[in-house]
Amino acid sequence: MHIFTNAAELRAYTETQRAAGRRLGLVPTMGALHEGHLQLVQAAATQCDEVIASVFVNPTQFNNPDDLRLYPRVPEQDAALLAPAGCTALFLPPVAEVYPQPTMLRFDFGALEQVMEGAHRPGHFNGVATVVSKLFHFARPHVAYFGQKDFQQVAVVRQLVADLSFDLELVVYPTVREADGLAMSSRNRRLSPAARAAAPLLYQVLTAAAAQVRQGLPPAQVQAQALGYLAKAPEFTPEYFELVNAHSLQPVAQYTIGQPLALCVAAHLDGVRLIDNVVIE
Ligand code: PAJ
Repeated sequence: MHIFTNAAELRAYTETQRAAGRRLGLVPTMGALHEGHLQLVQAAATQCDEVIASVFVNPTQFNNPDDLRLYPRVPEQDAALLAPAGCTALFLPPVAEVYPQPTMLRFDFGALEQVMEGAHRPGHFNGVATVVSKLFHFARPHVAYFGQKDFQQVAVVRQLVADLSFDLELVVYPTVREADGLAMSSRNRRLSPAARAAAPLLYQVLTAAAAQVRQGLPPAQVQAQALGYLAKAPEFTPEYFELVNAHSLQPVAQYTIGQPLALCVAAHLDGVRLIDNVVIE
């Protein structure tokens, strides 16, 4: 596995691979890798000739300085996991390589970012769109791999790719969970043993709410019950629980036939902010 810390060198490498007719897959990550990330790398390895993974804790997408400071950073462990999963090139840049100067461009994703993560984390998707655009330019992938775990991020990146005409295919894989249902997340490493024991409630509330939606319980009641359950658990401080249209991400007040739905939740658990979602077929 090649390791690049320099964007121009990565770019020269991927240009050569492209010119040789090889199919390039990119898996952008912030590291502290787990099975959710590795599933994307493994999928890329079966579908592409070259798999580029990036490990970069992107400062511009953090609205909370403590969250940025405490975000786990274990590059050696990450590198050791990536190579056997089929990664052929790892991009591990320092901040100054990605941001040689402060960026001035601002993205506005309209209604897509006025809800949920966008509403609660001001500037978050601007930072995501900035770094993802840069990574697409550095790596020039044919295919880019993302996880459904970050449901709104997928919608924003899809819009970014369409609006800026990035010539690549987006591939999305389902959320990988621990045996008790907790969605795998790099931030899970920061949970205390007590918080970790309580954490599966997030997915339990989501699956219970999904069953209520399938039974046709009114959206406002589904939301109120779910928030009530989370608020009752002493470890949790819920931030939002939304039933949304899975394409537009706008809150759903009434059911209409054929409308794609998703339930999305964010909650603080012992100082760690976790998100999760389920799509309702
Ligand atoms: P990060 O949180 O490291 O996630 C990297 C990729 O792995 C994302 O596409 C995310 O959705 C996916 N992922 C994370 N946990 C997952 C799980 N349990 N199951 C399936 N996929 C999972 O998302 C980011 O980093 C950043 O915002 C990034 C896109 C790299 C831009 O900085």
